[in-house]
Amino acid sequence: MVRLLPLGATAPVSVTVRLGRSNDTDVVVSQGIKAGDIVVVGDGQVDAGERRWPLWWRPPLIALSHVSKVYRMGSVDVQALGDVSLTIPSGEWLAITGSSGGGKSTLMNVIGCLDTPDSGSYRLNGQEVADLSENALADIRNREIGFVYQTFNLLARMPALKQVMLPMQYVRSEARLPLAERRDRAASVLQAVGLGDRLNHDPSELSGGQRQRVAIARALINEPRIILADEPTGNLDTRAGEEILEIFSRLHRESGVTLIMVTHEEPVADMAQRIVRMRDGRIVEELRR
Ligand SMILES: Nc1ncnc2c1ncn2[C@@H]1O[C@H](COP(=O)(O)OP(=O)(O)O)[C@@H](O)[C@H]1O
Ligand SMILES: [Mg+2]
Repeated sequence: MVRLLPLGATAPVSVTVRLGRSNDTDVVVSQGIKAGDIVVVGDGQVDAGERRWPLWWRPPLIALSHVSKVYRMGSVDVQALGDVSLTIPSGEWLAITGSSGGGKSTLMNVIGCLDTPDSGSYRLNGQEVADLSENALADIRNREIGFVYQTFNLLARMPALKQVMLPMQYVRSEARLPLAERRDRAASVLQAVGLGDRLNHDPSELSGGQRQRVAIARALINEPRIILADEPTGNLDTRAGEEILEIFSRLHRESGVTLIMVTHEEPVADMAQRIVRMRDGRIVEELRR
Protein backbone atom coordinates (compact mmCIF):
# COMPACT_ATOMS: atom_id res chain seq x y z
CA MET A 1 0.00 0.00 0.00
CA VAL A 2 1.20 3.49 -0.81
CA ARG A 3 -0.23 6.45 1.07
CA LEU A 4 0.00 9.82 -0.59
CA LEU A 5 1.09 12.99 1.06
CA PRO A 6 -0.04 16.20 -0.62
CA LEU A 7 1.82 16.50 -3.88
CA GLY A 8 0.43 19.56 -5.49
CA ALA A 9 0.77 17.90 -8.86
CA THR A 10 -2.15 17.99 -11.23
CA ALA A 11 -0.93 15.33 -13.64
CA PRO A 12 0.39 11.93 -12.56
CA VAL A 13 4.11 11.86 -11.96
CA SER A 14 6.41 8.91 -11.42
CA VAL A 15 8.25 8.63 -8.16
CA THR A 16 11.11 6.31 -7.33
CA VAL A 17 10.40 4.77 -3.98
CA ARG A 18 12.89 5.44 -1.24
CA LEU A 19 12.42 3.58 1.98
CA GLY A 20 12.97 5.22 5.32
CA ARG A 21 12.16 8.78 4.24
CA SER A 22 8.53 9.17 4.98
CA ASN A 23 8.20 12.74 6.25
CA ASP A 24 9.54 14.83 3.42
CA THR A 25 8.99 12.76 0.30
CA ASP A 26 6.01 11.91 -1.80
CA VAL A 27 5.07 8.49 -0.54
CA VAL A 28 4.96 6.50 2.62
CA VAL A 29 5.69 2.86 1.94
CA SER A 30 3.84 0.41 4.12
CA GLN A 31 4.22 -2.85 2.29
CA GLY A 32 4.21 -4.55 -1.08
CA ILE A 33 6.79 -2.45 -2.89
CA LYS A 34 10.50 -2.07 -2.43
CA ALA A 35 13.01 0.72 -2.52
CA GLY A 36 13.80 1.53 -6.14
CA ASP A 37 10.36 0.52 -7.44
CA ILE A 38 8.58 3.22 -9.33
CA VAL A 39 5.05 4.22 -8.51
CA VAL A 40 2.94 6.59 -10.51
CA VAL A 41 1.22 9.12 -8.29
CA GLY A 42 -1.26 11.86 -8.95
CA ASP A 43 -4.46 13.34 -7.66
CA GLY A 44 -5.30 10.70 -5.09
CA GLN A 45 -4.42 7.78 -7.32
CA VAL A 46 -1.61 5.35 -7.01
CA ASP A 47 -0.50 2.56 -9.26
CA ALA A 48 2.22 0.45 -7.72
CA GLY A 49 4.29 -1.93 -9.77
CA GLU A 50 5.46 0.22 -12.69
CA ARG A 51 2.74 -1.19 -14.88
CA ARG A 52 1.82 2.08 -16.51
CA TRP A 53 5.18 2.63 -18.05
CA PRO A 54 6.09 0.79 -21.20
CA LEU A 55 9.07 -1.46 -20.58
CA TRP A 56 11.48 0.59 -22.66
CA TRP A 57 10.86 3.81 -20.79
CA ARG A 58 11.80 2.38 -17.45
CA PRO A 59 15.22 2.97 -15.95
CA PRO A 60 17.41 -0.13 -16.28
CA LEU A 61 17.43 -2.43 -13.32
CA ILE A 62 20.50 -4.14 -14.74
CA ALA A 63 23.11 -2.24 -16.73
CA LEU A 64 26.21 -4.03 -17.99
CA SER A 65 28.68 -1.92 -19.87
CA HIS A 66 31.69 -3.38 -21.70
CA VAL A 67 31.92 -6.34 -19.34
CA SER A 68 34.71 -8.84 -19.93
CA LYS A 69 35.76 -11.99 -18.13
CA VAL A 70 38.67 -14.26 -18.94
CA TYR A 71 39.31 -17.68 -17.44
CA ARG A 72 42.86 -18.93 -17.50
CA MET A 73 43.05 -22.68 -18.19
CA GLY A 74 46.68 -23.65 -17.80
CA SER A 75 48.41 -21.55 -20.42
CA VAL A 76 45.24 -20.86 -22.40
CA ASP A 77 42.99 -17.86 -21.85
CA VAL A 78 39.30 -18.44 -22.40
CA GLN A 79 37.31 -15.29 -23.03
CA ALA A 80 34.06 -16.23 -21.30
CA LEU A 81 32.69 -12.70 -21.74
CA GLY A 82 34.04 -10.21 -24.24
CA ASP A 83 32.82 -6.64 -24.11
CA VAL A 84 29.21 -7.39 -23.22
CA SER A 85 26.91 -4.39 -22.91
CA LEU A 86 23.32 -5.08 -21.98
CA THR A 87 20.62 -3.20 -20.15
CA ILE A 88 17.56 -4.86 -18.73
CA PRO A 89 14.59 -2.82 -17.53
CA SER A 90 12.67 -3.85 -14.47
CA GLY A 91 9.95 -6.35 -15.34
CA GLU A 92 11.40 -7.60 -18.60
CA TRP A 93 11.42 -11.26 -19.57
CA LEU A 94 14.71 -11.78 -21.36
CA ALA A 95 15.89 -15.02 -22.94
CA ILE A 96 19.58 -15.75 -23.46
CA THR A 97 20.38 -18.34 -26.10
CA GLY A 98 23.41 -19.56 -27.98
CA SER A 99 25.63 -22.56 -28.31
CA SER A 100 27.36 -24.29 -25.44
CA GLY A 101 30.42 -22.43 -24.14
CA GLY A 102 29.08 -19.11 -25.42
CA GLY A 103 29.25 -17.43 -22.02
CA LYS A 104 25.59 -17.64 -20.99
CA SER A 105 26.19 -19.09 -17.53
CA THR A 106 29.09 -16.73 -16.92
CA LEU A 107 26.82 -13.82 -17.77
CA MET A 108 24.14 -15.15 -15.42
CA ASN A 109 26.72 -15.49 -12.65
CA VAL A 110 27.86 -11.91 -13.16
CA ILE A 111 24.28 -10.62 -13.17
CA GLY A 112 23.58 -12.69 -10.06
CA CYS A 113 26.60 -11.20 -8.25
CA LEU A 114 28.14 -14.66 -7.94
CA ASP A 115 31.07 -13.79 -10.17
CA THR A 116 32.87 -10.53 -10.86
CA PRO A 117 33.93 -9.23 -14.25
CA ASP A 118 37.59 -8.52 -14.97
CA SER A 119 36.68 -5.21 -16.53
CA GLY A 120 33.67 -3.11 -17.39
CA SER A 121 30.84 -1.85 -15.26
CA TYR A 122 27.85 -3.59 -13.78
CA ARG A 123 25.26 -1.39 -12.18
CA LEU A 124 22.40 -3.09 -10.39
CA ASN A 125 19.53 -0.79 -9.58
CA GLY A 126 21.85 2.16 -10.13
CA GLN A 127 24.63 0.88 -7.90
CA GLU A 128 28.05 -0.20 -9.09
CA VAL A 129 28.28 -3.81 -7.91
CA ALA A 130 32.10 -3.70 -7.61
CA ASP A 131 31.72 -1.04 -4.91
CA LEU A 132 29.47 -3.15 -2.71
CA SER A 133 30.73 -4.89 0.41
CA GLU A 134 30.61 -8.67 0.74
CA ASN A 135 27.74 -8.29 3.23
CA ALA A 136 25.76 -6.10 0.88
CA LEU A 137 26.34 -8.60 -1.93
CA ALA A 138 25.25 -11.52 0.21
CA ASP A 139 22.10 -9.62 1.08
CA ILE A 140 21.39 -8.85 -2.58
CA ARG A 141 21.92 -12.48 -3.59
CA ASN A 142 19.58 -13.64 -0.87
CA ARG A 143 16.83 -11.04 -1.12
CA GLU A 144 16.90 -9.47 -4.56
CA ILE A 145 17.80 -12.40 -6.78
CA GLY A 146 16.30 -15.87 -7.05
CA PHE A 147 18.34 -18.57 -8.78
CA VAL A 148 16.94 -21.59 -10.61
CA TYR A 149 19.35 -24.10 -12.13
CA GLN A 150 19.12 -26.90 -14.66
CA THR A 151 20.10 -29.44 -12.00
CA PHE A 152 17.75 -27.98 -9.34
CA ASN A 153 20.56 -27.69 -6.74
CA LEU A 154 18.40 -28.88 -3.87
CA LEU A 155 19.87 -30.31 -0.70
CA ALA A 156 19.54 -34.07 -0.38
CA ARG A 157 17.52 -35.45 2.51
CA MET A 158 15.74 -32.23 3.33
CA PRO A 159 11.97 -31.91 3.06
CA ALA A 160 10.62 -29.43 0.51
CA LEU A 161 9.23 -27.12 3.18
CA LYS A 162 12.62 -26.76 4.86
CA GLN A 163 14.43 -26.18 1.58
CA VAL A 164 12.08 -23.33 0.81
CA MET A 165 12.41 -21.87 4.30
CA LEU A 166 16.22 -21.70 4.08
CA PRO A 167 16.63 -18.35 2.29
CA MET A 168 14.37 -16.73 4.90
CA GLN A 169 16.69 -17.95 7.63
CA TYR A 170 19.60 -16.04 6.09
CA VAL A 171 17.79 -12.73 6.11
CA ARG A 172 19.34 -10.16 8.48
CA SER A 173 17.98 -10.76 11.96
CA GLU A 174 16.11 -7.47 12.19
CA ALA A 175 14.18 -8.25 9.00
CA ARG A 176 13.70 -11.97 9.60
CA LEU A 177 10.19 -13.34 10.05
CA PRO A 178 9.36 -15.46 13.08
CA LEU A 179 9.64 -19.21 12.50
CA ALA A 180 5.90 -19.88 12.34
CA GLU A 181 5.46 -17.20 9.67
CA ARG A 182 8.40 -18.54 7.69
CA ARG A 183 6.78 -21.94 7.74
CA ASP A 184 3.38 -20.60 6.65
CA ARG A 185 4.91 -18.56 3.88
CA ALA A 186 6.98 -21.47 2.56
CA ALA A 187 3.89 -23.67 2.60
CA SER A 188 1.87 -21.11 0.67
CA VAL A 189 4.55 -20.63 -1.99
CA LEU A 190 4.85 -24.41 -2.38
CA GLN A 191 1.09 -24.49 -2.69
CA ALA A 192 1.28 -21.83 -5.40
CA VAL A 193 3.64 -23.98 -7.48
CA GLY A 194 1.35 -26.99 -7.05
CA LEU A 195 3.21 -28.81 -4.30
CA GLY A 196 0.86 -28.22 -1.41
CA ASP A 197 0.65 -31.96 -0.84
CA ARG A 198 4.42 -32.56 -0.97
CA LEU A 199 5.67 -30.32 1.84
CA ASN A 200 7.41 -33.10 3.72
CA HIS A 201 8.87 -34.96 0.76
CA ASP A 202 12.63 -35.14 0.23
CA PRO A 203 13.97 -34.50 -3.30
CA SER A 204 14.53 -38.26 -3.65
CA GLU A 205 10.77 -38.71 -3.31
CA LEU A 206 9.94 -36.16 -6.00
CA SER A 207 9.95 -36.20 -9.80
CA GLY A 208 12.26 -33.88 -11.76
CA GLY A 209 9.46 -31.44 -12.44
CA GLN A 210 8.47 -31.43 -8.78
CA ARG A 211 12.09 -30.85 -7.74
CA GLN A 212 12.30 -27.88 -10.04
CA ARG A 213 9.11 -26.53 -8.54
CA VAL A 214 10.68 -26.74 -5.09
CA ALA A 215 13.68 -24.86 -6.48
CA ILE A 216 11.38 -22.21 -7.94
CA ALA A 217 9.55 -21.84 -4.63
CA ARG A 218 12.92 -21.46 -2.89
CA ALA A 219 13.93 -18.81 -5.43
CA LEU A 220 10.71 -16.89 -4.87
CA ILE A 221 10.43 -17.05 -1.13
CA ASN A 222 12.10 -13.69 -0.38
CA GLU A 223 10.17 -11.97 -3.19
CA PRO A 224 13.23 -11.10 -5.29
CA ARG A 225 13.14 -8.47 -8.01
CA ILE A 226 15.08 -10.71 -10.37
CA ILE A 227 14.79 -14.39 -11.23
CA LEU A 228 17.78 -15.95 -12.98
CA ALA A 229 16.99 -19.33 -14.49
CA ASP A 230 19.83 -21.16 -16.24
CA GLU A 231 18.29 -23.78 -18.55
CA PRO A 232 15.52 -24.54 -16.05
CA THR A 233 13.85 -27.10 -18.31
CA GLY A 234 17.07 -28.65 -19.60
CA ASN A 235 16.77 -31.75 -17.40
CA LEU A 236 13.04 -32.24 -17.73
CA ASP A 237 10.84 -34.18 -20.11
CA THR A 238 8.58 -32.16 -22.41
CA ARG A 239 5.53 -32.32 -20.20
CA ALA A 240 7.31 -31.34 -16.99
CA GLY A 241 9.16 -28.61 -18.89
CA GLU A 242 5.88 -27.15 -20.09
CA GLU A 243 4.53 -27.10 -16.55
CA ILE A 244 7.61 -25.27 -15.32
CA LEU A 245 7.34 -22.72 -18.12
CA GLU A 246 3.70 -22.17 -17.29
CA ILE A 247 4.74 -21.34 -13.72
CA PHE A 248 7.37 -18.86 -14.96
CA SER A 249 4.91 -17.35 -17.36
CA ARG A 250 2.27 -16.88 -14.68
CA LEU A 251 4.85 -15.54 -12.28
CA HIS A 252 6.07 -12.96 -14.76
CA ARG A 253 2.57 -11.90 -15.68
CA GLU A 254 1.27 -11.62 -12.15
CA SER A 255 4.26 -10.35 -10.20
CA GLY A 256 6.11 -8.19 -12.71
CA VAL A 257 9.38 -9.85 -11.69
CA THR A 258 12.38 -9.39 -13.97
CA LEU A 259 12.96 -12.82 -15.50
CA ILE A 260 16.21 -13.77 -17.21
CA MET A 261 16.25 -17.26 -18.63
CA VAL A 262 18.95 -19.17 -20.45
CA THR A 263 17.57 -21.73 -22.87
CA HIS A 264 18.60 -23.85 -25.83
CA GLU A 265 15.04 -24.33 -26.95
CA GLU A 266 13.61 -21.91 -29.45
CA PRO A 267 9.95 -22.21 -28.35
CA VAL A 268 11.06 -21.37 -24.83
CA ALA A 269 13.04 -18.33 -25.96
CA ASP A 270 10.01 -17.27 -27.99
CA MET A 271 8.03 -16.78 -24.80
CA ALA A 272 10.32 -13.92 -23.78
CA GLN A 273 9.98 -10.24 -24.70
CA ARG A 274 13.55 -10.09 -25.96
CA ILE A 275 16.09 -12.68 -27.01
CA VAL A 276 19.84 -12.19 -26.99
CA ARG A 277 22.08 -14.75 -28.62
CA MET A 278 25.63 -15.28 -27.41
CA ARG A 279 28.63 -16.76 -29.10
CA ASP A 280 32.23 -16.86 -27.86
CA GLY A 281 31.44 -14.54 -25.00
CA ARG A 282 29.74 -11.91 -27.11
CA ILE A 283 26.19 -10.87 -27.84
CA VAL A 284 25.86 -11.55 -31.55
CA GLU A 285 22.16 -11.01 -32.07
CA GLU A 286 19.31 -9.29 -30.33
CA LEU A 287 15.67 -9.76 -31.14
CA ARG A 288 12.93 -7.69 -29.59
CA ARG A 289 9.52 -9.22 -29.85
N1 LIG B 1 35.15 -21.66 -13.79
C1 LIG B 1 35.66 -21.72 -15.04
N2 LIG B 1 36.97 -21.96 -15.25
C2 LIG B 1 37.48 -21.99 -16.48
N3 LIG B 1 36.76 -21.81 -17.61
C3 LIG B 1 35.46 -21.58 -17.48
C4 LIG B 1 34.82 -21.52 -16.19
N4 LIG B 1 33.51 -21.27 -16.37
C5 LIG B 1 33.33 -21.18 -17.71
N5 LIG B 1 34.49 -21.36 -18.37
C6 LIG B 1 34.67 -21.30 -19.83
O1 LIG B 1 34.11 -20.08 -20.27
C7 LIG B 1 33.40 -20.27 -21.47
C8 LIG B 1 31.96 -19.89 -21.28
O2 LIG B 1 31.34 -20.81 -20.40
P1 LIG B 1 29.83 -20.71 -19.95
O3 LIG B 1 29.56 -19.35 -19.48
O4 LIG B 1 29.58 -21.81 -18.98
O5 LIG B 1 29.04 -20.97 -21.32
P2 LIG B 1 27.56 -21.49 -21.60
O6 LIG B 1 26.79 -21.36 -20.33
O7 LIG B 1 27.07 -20.58 -22.69
O8 LIG B 1 27.66 -22.89 -22.06
C9 LIG B 1 33.58 -21.75 -21.86
O9 LIG B 1 34.64 -21.84 -22.75
C10 LIG B 1 33.93 -22.38 -20.53
O10 LIG B 1 34.71 -23.52 -20.74
MG1 LIG C 1 25.72 -22.79 -19.26
